[in-house]
Amino acid sequence: MRYATFDRYGPPEVLSVTTGPVPRPGPGEVLVRVRAVSVNGGELTARAGKVRLVTGNKFPQRMGVDLAGEVVEPGTSRFAAGDLVWGSVGRRLGSAAEYVVVPPERIDHIPAGIDELRAAALLAGTTAITAFRDKAALEPGERLLVRGATGGVGYVAVQLGKAMGAHVTGLASAANLDMLKELGADELVDYRAPGDLGPFDVILDTVGTGLPAVHRLLARRGRMVAIAFDVDHPARSVGYIAAQSIRRHRRIHAFSGDPTAALLAELGRWVTAGAIRPYVDRVFPLSDIAAAHRALEQGGVRGKVVVDLS
Ligand SMILES: NC(=O)c1ccc[n+]([C@@H]2O[C@H](COP(=O)([O-])OP(=O)(O)OC[C@H]3O[C@@H](n4cnc5c(N)ncnc54)[C@H](OP(=O)(O)O)[C@@H]3O)[C@@H](O)[C@H]2O)c1
Repeated sequence: MRYATFDRYGPPEVLSVTTGPVPRPGPGEVLVRVRAVSVNGGELTARAGKVRLVTGNKFPQRMGVDLAGEVVEPGTSRFAAGDLVWGSVGRRLGSAAEYVVVPPERIDHIPAGIDELRAAALLAGTTAITAFRDKAALEPGERLLVRGATGGVGYVAVQLGKAMGAHVTGLASAANLDMLKELGADELVDYRAPGDLGPFDVILDTVGTGLPAVHRLLARRGRMVAIAFDVDHPARSVGYIAAQSIRRHRRIHAFSGDPTAALLAELGRWVTAGAIRPYVDRVFPLSDIAAAHRALEQGGVRGKVVVDLS
């Protein structure tokens, strides 16, 4: 099978596609023929070597977190061969491969009517659900700010925020404000010229830079969820998040997503209800995964960049 790999940290060009044996599932594990994976902001950071304290210095390493594909060997009665599933390989990267072995608790059935490319583009929605439902306890009528509102996590978060009844302000680049409107945001704000904003009851920050200024936009009883940190100043931004995570008021919540089948099922319900729609910006074949990374790195992406492995 073919899979994406890299043998040193660096620019997108360090990525290559190589071949190896199809992995063998252990007892209870599921073998999936991967049809699509999306490119996540965090993977660019990992490939560039900006989180090497976590990713280590052993090579070769693999790429890809989420996946949408077809069950080949079910390993459990929850699935049958041929079922279309979505999920992730967890924190150990490697889904950008023609076949992966996953534990059944990391995958679920793709909602009816959604193909694998669109499914891959929706998977970051599990992060938005965790942020709003579990961390911020977002309530109808609350004022919500999504920073990075047309990015991979943000574009689903805007739709979810609206579906949960919030008044949504989105911060995005000027060229993407039309998309933000399509997503249903109530207030469309160019992040390069934001003007006076706030206060907000809930803030989802998917960017990680300049966190104190964003944090100041919270109302007294507000909650902020920070899913990213400033990769150029990691100690400062992670330290800030940690210090603010123990406050009673204006608390910052942080987490590292690891979606379960139950979370995927919840995302599926929002999608089936029509509340969350996929946005695929561009599709690249696996052989062009470096170009897919470059596209996300260049910015301005509307929704998701997806890699097609079919
Ligand atoms: N903790 C977790 O569980 C978790 C899960 C998923 C992702 N993440 C992290 O979340 C981050 C975002 O991931 P992603 O996949 O959504 O990335 P992405 O698709 O690249 O989206 C980032 C968005 O931020 C926008 N942006 C850049 N600078 C901005 C600024 N100063 N103000 C407002 N918006 C700005 C970009 O807009 P333009 O490109 O148009 O400028 C882009 O739309 C990554 O750091 C990733 O590691 C964490």
